[in-house]
Formats: sequence, C-alpha cells, structure tokens
Amino acid sequence: MPASLLVAGHDRIAGAARRVMARCDELARVSATSGAIERVYLSTEHARVNRLAAEWMREIGMTTRQDAAGNQLGRIGPPDAPALLLGSHLDTVPDAGRYDGIVGVLMALEVVRLLRPPGAEGSASDPALPFALEVIAFSDEEGTRFGKALLGSSAVAGTWDADWWALTDADGTTLGEAFREFGLDPGRIGEAARHPDELVGYLEAHIEQGPELDRRGESLAVVSSIASARRFQLVVEGEARHAGGTPYDLRRDALLGASEAALAVERICRAEHHIIGTVGQLEAYPGAVNIIPGEARLSLDLRGEFDGERDRVWGAISRDVDEIMGRRGLRWHAREIHSAPAVFCAPLLQDVVREGILSTLPSGADDPAVIFSRAGHDGMAIGAVTDVGMLFLRNPDGISHHPDEAVAAGDVARGIQALAEAVLHRAAEPV
Ligand code: GLV
Ligand code: MN
Ligand code: MN
Repeated sequence: MPASLLVAGHDRIAGAARRVMARCDELARVSATSGAIERVYLSTEHARVNRLAAEWMREIGMTTRQDAAGNQLGRIGPPDAPALLLGSHLDTVPDAGRYDGIVGVLMALEVVRLLRPPGAEGSASDPALPFALEVIAFSDEEGTRFGKALLGSSAVAGTWDADWWALTDADGTTLGEAFREFGLDPGRIGEAARHPDELVGYLEAHIEQGPELDRRGESLAVVSSIASARRFQLVVEGEARHAGGTPYDLRRDALLGASEAALAVERICRAEHHIIGTVGQLEAYPGAVNIIPGEARLSLDLRGEFDGERDRVWGAISRDVDEIMGRRGLRWHAREIHSAPAVFCAPLLQDVVREGILSTLPSGADDPAVIFSRAGHDGMAIGAVTDVGMLFLRNPDGISHHPDEAVAAGDVARGIQALAEAVLHRAAEPV
C-alpha cells in the first residue's frame, strides 16, 4: 500500500483544523446553562446543533436528514452504494468540555470536504470512492438526561429496547414524552436502524480522555478496543438512630459501611493494571445532621479491557463488601444498571487508521501507539451492526468531562489528515 494517498496541501489541512476549532467554539455556545456547556438529548439545544450540523453538511454537497432517533446525518456518493459512516456525538455531560464527541463530528465534515474532487467546493460532486460517505452526529452518547447511554447509536444499531420508553429525566418526563415534544414519533424508532449490508464500517475520531498520548509526546493513536463496562447501584442498610445518644457499639452506620466499600473499590482496582473503578455518587438517608445514616446508596462504574478481568474484579469487590458489611452489622445488595461487553476495533479498520497516522509522520517513523479506550463511545453500540475503527487525539493532561478539556489545532490537523488517509486506504480494499 502506498503510504500517502491524499492530495491536499498543508495549508488546506491547517485551514480545515482552524474551521473545526472555530466550530467547536460555536457549538459550545449552544448550551442549556449559561457560563457552562450542557446539551442533552431531545432538548432545544439538541435541535439547534442538529440544524447547524445540517447546514455545514449541505455546504459540502451532502444531502441531509434527521433520523427517527434525532441523529443528524449527511450523505454524499452513489445513492445505492453502501456507506462508510464517519462521526461521533454532539450531546454532552453537565459542565462539559467542548471537544468530547463534537470534534469527531466536525473532523468528519472536513474529511468529506478534503475528499471531494478539486474545484468541487460549493457543488455537489461526489468523492470518487467505491462507497458513499455518511457523516453521523449521534444525538445521545452520554446518557445525561435519561441515565441510559448510547441511545442514538443503539437506535442506528437496531438494538433499541422498548423498556427504555419508560425511562424518566429529572423532571419526570418519560423518554416517550420527550420524543413527542421534540417532534419525533416513538412508533417509528425502528426506521433509524441500519442493515449491515448498507454499511462498510464506522470510523470515529475522538479525544483520548486520558493522559497516555500526552505522556508519550504523540499526537494520534490507533484504538484497539473500547472498554467493557458494568455499572451498579449499591444499597447499604443499617439503622438510623440518635447521633448523640447512640454509643459506638450500638451503631450500624450505613454511610460508614458505604465509605469503606468505596475505599475497597479503589484498593482492589489500584492493584489491577487494567481495571478502573469509580464511585461517582454517594448518598446518605435520611440525610440529617443529627441522625446516624440508616441507609446509603452508592454507584459503581467498573471498566476494563476484557470482560473476564472486569467480572473477576467485581467478584473480588463483592467479597470485600460482604466482609465489610458483616463486620459492621450492615446488609447490602447491588442492582446492575448497565453492562456492555468490550468492543474490539476491526483489524482492517485498525490497519487503515495506522496507515493514516503514519502518513502524518516522517518516513521511517515508528508505528503509532495502539491503545484501548477506557471511555465509552458510540462504536460500542454500532459494533452490533458494522465494523468499528477509532482514532484518538492527544488530550492535554488527559482532562475530559470538565470545562478545561482541550485539544491542539495541530493535532486536529494531523487527525483530519490521518482520517482522510484512512478512508482512502479503506477504499483501496474490497468493499
Ligand atoms: C462516556 O463518556 C463515558 O465513557 O462514560
Ligand atoms: Mn463523554
Ligand atoms: Mn464522547
């Protein structure tokens, strides 16, 4: 395979990266909260960013549509050809950064712009590829509003679960009601599903959301897989009693048991190389300053490269929690609220992403980093219907899900070049 297939000068790619950075700033202004970024599923902000994305898609000759789950799509190329999907998501966590998901959608648009024939600017000429290109802006990856992640991509994968209609947001609005308020028909959700025969694969660029590339001093990485994840809600039951009158030998303090369990999660996961555990929520009931907590609830998010390792660690945590609660006279139980197996990126798409990254490096450079994603991505759902490939961009200091989240324009430029090259290398292989 030739190392470089893309005909585009440095200035054009640098201009594309500048446009991506400016559009990330523009989308950051579409927020439900002033002074912070928050854009959730089926909100007015969701509708506004879809309209902007559709405008930007049409500007590069794509035909656009919003699907039955509120995902925004643009397509260019032969109408009957299978499509290579490029994209990421436009929704955010609360108090988010401006790049998680968003940068991948905007980079995909620049890839389409670069791959159109010279002089096609403003016209509807197609890139000369053996497949169509579709840019997809997923509507819900984070699950911020309804507590269930990957709603947009699950609809596209055809794995929508009818039980989800009853999920409620913080105001008690059900997912079904929110669909109708947004102008979507829950009865038509099946129309968002794609058939494997219609797709060549899914390629996504995303910031790493961790420090590995920053520590290595490298811009881009090939993603080998997306972590497997399990999430639990743990309930600890003790006895509420008077904070002043109850001596220690009579106390069954649920919050102290939950706190010790949270420390056990850290101790056990720290001893494992590839498993990360987080207790992100901890609540005490009845929640008064002068009452020993009779009940405590905590969340647990467990992620790992391999499902088996993750499950073994959950077993070790459960045994430790049993011991803690037994010693403190407490009872506990866990409800699993999310479980997703690891998704492995397709070898062919890993190869083309590697070729793409190599095209951005001096000749003779070492192979780029190959890392697994500890964060969740739309590819976890899309993997059910087509091959998935991912490209990571350096994320300075590894800070993400935070307003200080950053990416350098130079890395975005290299990422756009690598992604465009990856598409061309994929086009050189059988469809
Ligand atoms: C999504 O960003 C997740 O990994 O939780
Ligand atoms: Mn995220
Ligand atoms: Mn993301």
